Amino acid sequence: MRPFHCKSVARAPAYFLATASPRRAAHAAAVAPAWRPSSALDEWVQREARPISLRRLTFFGRTLTETRLLDGANYCRLELPTRIAHRLRDIQTLPYVVVANPHLAHVYEQYLSAFERFRRVREIRSLDDNERYCKILQETLKEHASVIPRLALGVLEVRGLMRPEETDKFMNTMLRSRISRRVIAEQHLALTDTFNSPWHFPHNQPEHDPHHDTVGEIFLKCNAKEIVERCGKTTQDLVKAAYGSHVQIPEIRIEGHLNATFPYIESHLEYIIGELIRNSIQAVIEQKRYNGIKPPPIEVLICETSQHVIIRISDQGGGISNDVLPHLWSFSKGPRYQNRLQNLARVPKLLGTLQELKMPDDHSPRESDKHGGSSLSSLTSRPPDLRLGIGLPMSRIYAEYWAGSLEIHSLEGFGVDAFLQISKLGNKDERLATRASMDA
Ligand code: COI
Repeated sequence: MRPFHCKSVARAPAYFLATASPRRAAHAAAVAPAWRPSSALDEWVQREARPISLRRLTFFGRTLTETRLLDGANYCRLELPTRIAHRLRDIQTLPYVVVANPHLAHVYEQYLSAFERFRRVREIRSLDDNERYCKILQETLKEHASVIPRLALGVLEVRGLMRPEETDKFMNTMLRSRISRRVIAEQHLALTDTFNSPWHFPHNQPEHDPHHDTVGEIFLKCNAKEIVERCGKTTQDLVKAAYGSHVQIPEIRIEGHLNATFPYIESHLEYIIGELIRNSIQAVIEQKRYNGIKPPPIEVLICETSQHVIIRISDQGGGISNDVLPHLWSFSKGPRYQNRLQNLARVPKLLGTLQELKMPDDHSPRESDKHGGSSLSSLTSRPPDLRLGIGLPMSRIYAEYWAGSLEIHSLEGFGVDAFLQISKLGNKDERLATRASMDA
């Protein structure tokens, strides 16, 4: 299907509606967002995003002065509307019947309103200006908490209206860009907190600072073993609650370089490892052959090299069948996933839960949960039977975002080895979303 630019869409609905089923067409006409040609958007779309890396974020936040904080605020002020403008333009190039999908239309409207809000913020010249700006950031992060399940649901509902490769390209771009915006916004909020904290340098007692191993959202000493243990325990509890206490849950054995540490955003790592362990545990307990006997453990090997930390997660859950493998990394999924759509009836509940998330206003020990991290942690802690089919592709986007990788090797009939590689140096620029105009 040929993509249409927004200006054409205003003239073209009759063509698109004619290509859709009558029911879908009536619905599309009722819910389609009103496309408003915006010269402001055209102007912002012309700007290039300025990429960041973990190392640059760390150096920038390490010695925090008022001038630096305000510089950071102004970087956010220009960067967020630029990055949102690119994605708005991408959505506008989708076929009309696709963007008329209520979930995708909702995301578009949210992005449009965030763009309008962000682009109007004037230069931030004082700490008071910054406080006002931080409130806008916090509110918008909270409003956008349900974007991921909405996008996932939207692309599943429009299966058949776009080629799967186009859908995947669109989702990859949208998600990479969303990670980038949330990192930029959450890092600025976290640095503002640090600056306002009583321990902040030059108040002179940095060794007493409970956050002295963090620079904003970045935890300088992420320990893979501890994260695997934490995610393993959470997932085991979730699975037990969902499947019943009579089900034997596989234990998790960890070996290798148990002291390996590296700088990383913990909530990102928790999401990826949580998804991998969840897949492994579910695969094992869904194997009928372990009924009544102790299931084989999930084996985790941590391997540290000069530049990388590699985490291998191996299970004996029977592997992935050949008809599912080609669709493993796809957001629109193959025919085997058709029945998943039934499961989606439960998703509005998840959307509701995400929408109702409160931003904790107490000082929780984990900064990552404090600002927007909540949208990621609610995905991590969703019930195991709620399967959106996005866990693996999204985990790979997170891994690649900071120059890492995620590979899955399946031994059909036996089990799966997942290899997560993390770049220890953090000196590669984020993998930025390209201008993903669907016709590019
Ligand atoms: C998103 O979460 O989708 C965003 O665009 C984040 C932004 C509001 C800071």
